[in-house]
Amino acid sequence: MSPELTRRPEWQALRRHFTQIGPLHLRTLFATDPARAGRFTAEAAGLCLDYSRQRITTDTRRLLCELAEACALPRLMAAMFRGDPINTTEHRAALHVALRAPAGERIVVDGRNVVADVHAVLERMEAFANQLRSGNWTGYTGKPIRNIVSIGIGGSDLGPVMAYEALRAYSRHDLRFRFVSNVDGTDLTEALRDLDAAETLFIVCSKTFTTQETISNARAARDWCVAALGFEAAVARHFVAVSADTGRVAAFGIAPEHTFGLWDWVGGRYSMDSAIGLSTLLAIGPAAFRDMLAGMHAMDVHFRDTPLDHNLPVLMGLLAVWNNNFLDAATVAVLPYEQYLKRFPAYLQQLAMESNGKHVTVDGARVDYATGPIYWGEPGTNGQHSFHQLIHQGTRIVPCDFIGFGQPLNPQAVQHDLLIANMIAQGEALAFGRNADEVRADGTPEALVAHRGFEGNRPSNTLLAARLTPWSLGTLIALYEHSVFVQGVIWNIDSFDQWGVELGKQLAGTTFAELTADTLPELAHDSSTNALIRRYRQLRDAPGPQR
Ligand code: F6P
Repeated sequence: MSPELTRRPEWQALRRHFTQIGPLHLRTLFATDPARAGRFTAEAAGLCLDYSRQRITTDTRRLLCELAEACALPRLMAAMFRGDPINTTEHRAALHVALRAPAGERIVVDGRNVVADVHAVLERMEAFANQLRSGNWTGYTGKPIRNIVSIGIGGSDLGPVMAYEALRAYSRHDLRFRFVSNVDGTDLTEALRDLDAAETLFIVCSKTFTTQETISNARAARDWCVAALGFEAAVARHFVAVSADTGRVAAFGIAPEHTFGLWDWVGGRYSMDSAIGLSTLLAIGPAAFRDMLAGMHAMDVHFRDTPLDHNLPVLMGLLAVWNNNFLDAATVAVLPYEQYLKRFPAYLQQLAMESNGKHVTVDGARVDYATGPIYWGEPGTNGQHSFHQLIHQGTRIVPCDFIGFGQPLNPQAVQHDLLIANMIAQGEALAFGRNADEVRADGTPEALVAHRGFEGNRPSNTLLAARLTPWSLGTLIALYEHSVFVQGVIWNIDSFDQWGVELGKQLAGTTFAELTADTLPELAHDSSTNALIRRYRQLRDAPGPQR
């Protein structure tokens, strides 16, 4: 069995097309088409995508859409919205769209209307948030809760952290939020150092409730809480859980009435709008949380109902394929020019890379093309003073996604203009560069002309919205979720499983036993692993502090 993507006539048409337009410079493309910016701008749900600085023509867009049709994108989109088990290796639906579907909608999975289930949990979350935010939910000693510590990892952490940071301006400033993910005890220790246990609530977030990091942090947090408050019974007032496995939560000691559920059709990296987002809801309140859900839903509807060539997630997904497979660009830099989005690239890393970091098709055939690119990034303008050098003058093509807003959330209007001026200018510099004649015209000495030249022709998207709000954040998240799915459909991979994380977990279990055995057992790994285990044990057990 071999993958058919690269044998498809539509793929081969794109290959031929690339040999024609590949050498074209964005300078030429813009110079020969004064209407180019308008031609390659799409809008939906208050988000504007300018993709005119991509190395494409209208033919490229048409051919990419034809490829999407040939890869059955419309059929698979419909299957996703219907709740079909499109996560084929796990026989599950990927129904994150149900998490933000309005209460009256019906999506039936295994005979149940899951939208009703979603709203039942949402209402319980809201009731809990109202109690806590009003001070009526008190800790074991009767004090109101002021600190919320969310414990989780991967999708049970990155989405909530991102959303908390993104919506800080809308958050209750008298509540303190901390997020603990790493199994490194430092993470929990530093999070708890200055907290009063009597005023602290822990949210243990784990879909499976088996994740080693989360469970060991939750146990340590419970020990800390019981030690500080003196009674095991305190756990009931200071711990709530979010999980699909209520049995395991109960075994941990958290009562069902303090447990908020999710379902197997919610993937971890697609779960920040489920109960996994309880910390977000506590921070911004029920109305703003519903606004975020409404923004996501608006993008879902746009994605579901809009022709491919005007469809933002489809266009972004197809452009990612174009850059990855035709321009051979192995990474995507995500550059929010909005400090509140500082954790957005990290969140996107899991979303994109756990989804599309796959080497076999849904049928198990080894792909003969590159799949998911590496997502990374930092907020602007910070990146300009570190890694943008490579994006401008390095030997690799690094497509960039710039993200900016018309209005600042804080009063420094001049600084905001400066921020956005930089964002727009970066895209311009990347696209158009500066040729040798222009550099010379500046009076640059001949010896420096080559050094000061910018080849340009480096592709970017620019996403603009009016203001960072819960609603617009929702649109942005759903945009990326769906664009990642679109890429996966073209590559014919399962974007909703993550088998690649399993081997490391398994080996860590064996290694942990070898590290913690009283006497070193006989080691049967390769020589490197054996030596590292021995060296670690020696270092750990050496008497006295080491220099
Ligand atoms: O190991 C990877 C992973 O399964 C992610 O996909 C997931 O988001 C994360 O671990 C956390 O899983 P859980 O919510 O079950 O603790």
